[in-house]
Amino acid sequence: FVHQLADESVGLDELLESPLHLAPEPSLPLPPDLYGAERRNSAGVDLTVPSLRATLEEALAQTTVPAIALADPAQVPAAVDRSLAAGEGWSRVPVAERAAALRRAADAMEADLPRLCALLVKEGFKAWGDSVAEVREAVDFLRYYALQAERLLQPVTLPGPTGESNELRLTARGAWVCISPWNFPLAIFTGQVAAALVTGNSVLAKPAEQTPAVAAEAVRLLHAAGVPRDALQLLHGPGETVGAALVAEPRIAGVVFTGSTQVAKVIQRALAAKDGPIVPLIAETGGINAMLVDSTALPEQVVDAVVQSAFRSAGQRCSALRLLCVHEAIADGVIAMVQGAARELVTGDPAEWRTDVGPVIDDEAFANLQRHLQRLQREAKPLLPPSEFDPRTRMVPPQAFEVTAVDQVKHEIFGPVLHIARWRGDPQATIHAINRIGYGLTLGIQTRIDSRAEALAREARIGNVYVNRNMIGAVVGVQPFGGEGMSGTGPKAGGPHYLTRFCAEQTVTVNT
Ligand code: SER
Repeated sequence: FVHQLADESVGLDELLESPLHLAPEPSLPLPPDLYGAERRNSAGVDLTVPSLRATLEEALAQTTVPAIALADPAQVPAAVDRSLAAGEGWSRVPVAERAAALRRAADAMEADLPRLCALLVKEGFKAWGDSVAEVREAVDFLRYYALQAERLLQPVTLPGPTGESNELRLTARGAWVCISPWNFPLAIFTGQVAAALVTGNSVLAKPAEQTPAVAAEAVRLLHAAGVPRDALQLLHGPGETVGAALVAEPRIAGVVFTGSTQVAKVIQRALAAKDGPIVPLIAETGGINAMLVDSTALPEQVVDAVVQSAFRSAGQRCSALRLLCVHEAIADGVIAMVQGAARELVTGDPAEWRTDVGPVIDDEAFANLQRHLQRLQREAKPLLPPSEFDPRTRMVPPQAFEVTAVDQVKHEIFGPVLHIARWRGDPQATIHAINRIGYGLTLGIQTRIDSRAEALAREARIGNVYVNRNMIGAVVGVQPFGGEGMSGTGPKAGGPHYLTRFCAEQTVTVNT
């Protein structure tokens, strides 16, 4: 052990000062005003996954995914007319009433959890555990933004010279376009829409083409909770047509987008190309997320974190681990344990209770993964049995490859594919190599040297850093989520600064 440390130029003193982390840190107690009684809905139903099994399976049997009508891009100007008209009234509704509408929608979502989960499984191919977590996250967004808006939207009196009063106010900007992805078709959709609405804006929402029915359900619940119909309109359809028409509309006040870096830049260019106001964009995109493991790390903890972070949700999370950078002294052992643990995962139909890894979302995603995996078979060292590539099932079992260097991974791969690189020497050099990739969303650090974890986190130009645990499943209000560089613009979703970007700021100075 000491030999390994010497190899990494770590002082023994430094190690002795660090308490040993024998298990991941316990999670923070959840703020009671966000979560209420521990995972019970307002009707007192226990929302922990095993206790829900019978209810969820019954809901699955009763739920069909409805066909959803597509919008015509030619409908966009009339939708914006209605949005602006409705926004006038909605922006004048007191913030407490707007927040109350979000809270009613949160209660309704919790009450409807089994059906929403069934839709997430059937339409979004989510495994059960992921679907329950997603409904909770959507509920958390509604309650968190309700609370934040009530705090934030109070006018602030500012100091000034005698004979003058100064006040800072946050006001609605107008009609926001919300463009959300298929991988969190309820949580991210709800988060974007809730943030725009509670700050008094109106919303034109364009959910991913793959998952329109889940979004339609969320909208139904928000309308029933008191959001005026025209203040929240849904326009289904492809990004290239309906999304492009919304972004090009001269009268929109802002765009919030979660998806690929490439599409975020297309939106940014389209906004910049228009005459008139400078339109803000909030973009949350992807990442080539790495985990740096030093020779002091606990292998069992590392492997658990790796398997969850790389393979849960079939790797279809923007936070997912793509690149494991493991110190050469423990690499063989960690790789062997990752191989063993990954083989235990059950790939299959998400409707089956025992499934860990469901299919990837659609044929295009499947074809992209197939191309990438075929290239890796030639250019890297395969560590798990190859996928059989049956396009009828779109199943991709967990895959892992050893690569020769951190910079060998150049593109975000959205699936259950882990790249593993060995490192030695100074861990800062590896963090710099990770920074140079250019994304900055999530980073895992596994070490028992606290000072090292702190130094590496400081050096990383990365939005969400997780030490000695997995690196997915950011909790609203606990780990505000979002990155920098090619991973997005900020502000972080589920964090205290998010709502401010949806608002205009006005100061009013009165000569008294
Ligand atoms: N917010 C999700 C997570 O943290 C990813 O989109 O896993």
